[in-house]
Amino acid sequence: MSYRILETDDIPGYLRERGHWDDATDIGVREVSDGNMNRVFLASSADGTRSLAVKQALPWVRVAGPSWPMSPDRADAEARAYAQVAKVAPDKIPAIHGYDPENHALVMEDMSDLEVLRTRLNEGEPYGPHTSARTGELVAQLSFATSDFGMESAERKALIAASVSPELCKITEDVVLSEPYIEHEHNHWHEQLDDLAADFRADARLRTEVADLRHTFMTSAQALLHGDLHTGSIMVGEREGAHVVRVFDPEFSFVGPVGYDLGLYWANALVSEERARALGTLSDHGDQLRLSWEAFESEFRRLWPTRVDTFFDDAYLDRFLRRVWTESLGYAGTEIVRRIIGFAHLTDLTTLPDPVPASRRALLLGRELIVRREELSTPEHVRALL
Ligand SMILES: Nc1ncnc2c1ncn2[C@@H]1O[C@H](COP(=O)(O)OP(=O)(O)OP(=O)(O)O)[C@@H](O)[C@H]1O
Ligand SMILES: [Mg+2]
Repeated sequence: MSYRILETDDIPGYLRERGHWDDATDIGVREVSDGNMNRVFLASSADGTRSLAVKQALPWVRVAGPSWPMSPDRADAEARAYAQVAKVAPDKIPAIHGYDPENHALVMEDMSDLEVLRTRLNEGEPYGPHTSARTGELVAQLSFATSDFGMESAERKALIAASVSPELCKITEDVVLSEPYIEHEHNHWHEQLDDLAADFRADARLRTEVADLRHTFMTSAQALLHGDLHTGSIMVGEREGAHVVRVFDPEFSFVGPVGYDLGLYWANALVSEERARALGTLSDHGDQLRLSWEAFESEFRRLWPTRVDTFFDDAYLDRFLRRVWTESLGYAGTEIVRRIIGFAHLTDLTTLPDPVPASRRALLLGRELIVRREELSTPEHVRALL
């Protein structure tokens, strides 16, 4: 498994070799990797008229180095997910100029004129009217198209097989869907959360509910997911007066339960709300779960008449959407919990002057979402918990 690991100075030559840049103008390159996993470079012409982004997966976790090996095939999963989204929602992802499977490198649109949603929220800005609606719509468009409603059975079986992603799914199964509820060296938390962390580990009912969500994650091959749909995987901004929303980084993509994508987004929205409450900057945070759900549901219902298998009737659609709603709440709860007492925490909370009150509120909310998900049947019921 040896391939060419690209350094900043290699990028101009690489882009030319691959046919992405045919003129001889100087190409300036800077590395902007700020995630944990991969390297990202931005290449631009001296006059600023042309630019591209290059993302390469290394055979290890970038921030850990070779001591934490990780298959670079995650870049294949990312390219595959982008290819599926490009068919149904091309305006909600970066334009993809090419994928080089030999070197696990993706060449795409430079989005540096946009801003990562989490960064913007952490600075106290609101979501704005379109962010959650576009995100909910994207989940509906991708999940409908890659479900048995939108795709012929044989083609879908091939997609399921091609999208199996054991290494990245195992990360989620461990880090999100079990470790926070047991003693594990990965877990850490603020010392003033000792009591809640211990309560959560001792809570048998909570553990059984998480086991149920974990098993659904492992077995429910409903549709192709983004797999890591948090506010750090969304860029927003203005282009020519229009609000732009771009979802990126689908390297955790696999065929799983649709509620996992919505739930991750909801968890991050709810945590951003706790941050804003703590800082006195609350604005539209409380609307985002409802807005994304409404957009998801109405887009899914809009697509329903185009389904390829009409044995699935309208009453089944209602049942399916109800199940997605319930599972989304559960996954939202698990994502909140793991971001506070598990392995990887959120800057939304860690950068607060006193993260404890907001973290306690969020943890308790997370537990309620997990254990009471069956009885919480509307966005208003979720608001009532707050
Ligand atoms: N197409 C792009 N245009 C501009 N900037 C980008 C682009 N893609 C990524 N970036 C920048 O690089 C950062 C890391 O990208 P990305 O999240 O895809 O990498 P990652 O290593 O998979 O991250 P993570 O560890 O969160 O999974 C982004 O937060 C963003 O700042
Ligand atoms: Mg990533």
